[in-house]
Amino acid sequence: MQIQILPSLLAADFGHLADDIARAEASGAEALHLDVMDAHFVPNLSFGPDVVAVARAVAPGFYRHVHLMMTRPDLYLEPFAAAGAQTIQIHVEADCDIHAGLARIRAMGLRPAVVINPETPADAVYPYLRECDEVLVMTVHPGYGGQSFIAGCLRKVSDIRRRASVLGLDGLDIMVDGGVNGETGPQAAAAGANQFVAGSYLFRQKDMASAVRELRSACAASFTASP
Ligand code: DX5
Ligand code: ZN
Repeated sequence: MQIQILPSLLAADFGHLADDIARAEASGAEALHLDVMDAHFVPNLSFGPDVVAVARAVAPGFYRHVHLMMTRPDLYLEPFAAAGAQTIQIHVEADCDIHAGLARIRAMGLRPAVVINPETPADAVYPYLRECDEVLVMTVHPGYGGQSFIAGCLRKVSDIRRRASVLGLDGLDIMVDGGVNGETGPQAAAAGANQFVAGSYLFRQKDMASAVRELRSACAASFTASP
């Protein structure tokens, strides 16, 4: 499986947003992770489609994953697609028809993904595994960067990887987001994750490119396809 590292723009310096998008792209990371918060689904506000459009303008070739921490993501799928989202991730805990949301994302030619919060059991995503390209297992309570990794979520990563394998979905991407660093990333890889979002850990590095390379190789060395 391809191991991917995704810097989270939430940890960027918003006074120098374009520079930090360019720095993330130049680090060699596979994609940019953009966290959208609505102050209802999570107790924080971040940004909307305009910032996704800035990322596209600054770094057109840098793939954009948009993580919608929104109670009603279904109201905003088209605006995010128009702004340049390439993967759109919606929470199974959202207040909308998840099957329909995933189908609409797919119909726009984008990659659909589902997300589960730390307290949500793994089997909450099972009804959607054939309809999405990726599952994001939150490893912190969403809303803020810089929190500590919740190791108890790793069991869900393995459960979802095994379930996907039973269904013949060996190419399913499984992502972890929250508290990922050089120590916790490889733990998630051992549980079957192949995509790693890291915000504060990567943006605080002087040399982001080395940190991305080291994190990728440590995760690749620990990755287990049959956990
Ligand atoms: C949390 C966001 C994360 C966040 C991760 O609600 O979904 O993407 O930016 O930040 P770190 O890597 O600092 O935990
Ligand atoms: Zn996120």
